[in-house]
Amino acid sequence: MRLRHDPKLVRHVTDAKEFGRVAVLLGGTSSEREISLKSGNACLAALLKRGVDAHPFDPQDKPIASLVTARFDRVFIALHGPGGEDGTLQGALEFLGLPYTGSGVMGSAIGMDKLRTKRLAQAVGIPTTDYMVLRSPADLDNCIERLGLPMIVKPATQGSSVGMTKVEKAEELLGAYQAAAMLEPDVFAEPWITGGEYTVAMLQGRALPSIRIETPATFYDYQAKYFRNDTKYSCPSGLSPEAEKHLANLAQATFTAVGAEGWGRADFMMDKAGKPYLLEINTVPGMTDHSLVPMAARALGISFEQLVWQVLETSFSRTVIA
Ligand SMILES: Nc1ncnc2c1ncn2[C@@H]1O[C@H](COP(=O)(O)OP(=O)(O)O)[C@@H](O)[C@H]1O
Ligand SMILES: [Mg+2]
Repeated sequence: MRLRHDPKLVRHVTDAKEFGRVAVLLGGTSSEREISLKSGNACLAALLKRGVDAHPFDPQDKPIASLVTARFDRVFIALHGPGGEDGTLQGALEFLGLPYTGSGVMGSAIGMDKLRTKRLAQAVGIPTTDYMVLRSPADLDNCIERLGLPMIVKPATQGSSVGMTKVEKAEELLGAYQAAAMLEPDVFAEPWITGGEYTVAMLQGRALPSIRIETPATFYDYQAKYFRNDTKYSCPSGLSPEAEKHLANLAQATFTAVGAEGWGRADFMMDKAGKPYLLEINTVPGMTDHSLVPMAARALGISFEQLVWQVLETSFSRTVIA
């Protein structure tokens, strides 16, 4: 069994029965497990409210192949991070012949990797900061010379700001490198951008209104994302119509370059002159009712339940072939 993919097959569903039996994949084993449980349960509740035959499925408890024996028709992916958002799960579902939401194998795999996303973005003219790959402590001296200070050190494939450190003084760089290298071998540094932070949600090929994020923390880190209550979100974000359109185009172009689709989010930082730089994309962004994609949808009058429904519709881009 395999899946065929055609984005044109995404369609508007009016009857919950058309979705069949739906597994909402949530939890999992990544460092973002707790967030995924929140996202998945919120999505599950929304689908149930709309009459969809939806059931929770935590890959930590059961093998993915049991989705077939449990006779599911399609899968709503609410897993964040490696093992859910990185293309491996998508590949397994292709072979099981189970249509799923959002990006496919390639878009998910590239989107999970900030370095490769940057390289592709650069190749098609989407502005992103300069960067330097750090393979060993020997690379650190060069790095300060090339990128200057302050800078930010990141592991390439983590999410939720895990393993990231802002480096203001040269002597902090080794510790920042080690904190990221502890998590994975692919580590890079990029110059710090001082300016506004914006995120653009994508849904079925269109960009939703941008959100401006302001935090009193050093940056939008794990605490600011999920626990602090002093992070300020504005949607509409206050950009001029031209700047808003520009950001929407960049988000769309990034999704195209990376091969991401269905839904997701692109994160940007704007410098003091108002020039946006792509940070990364998320192919399975947070979906609690406090999350950013639901916030952007709401600004267009799309309720959380409608949004979850539309994300589930993206699974129709995949059809089973024998
Ligand atoms: N070059 C940068 N300059 C300033 N702040 C940054 C920079 N890169 C990332 N950040 C901050 O770190 C946060 C997380 O970075 P991001 O690349 O979006 O990774 P993720 O959201 O996957 O953890 C951003 O939301 C932003 O607040
Ligand atoms: Mg981000």
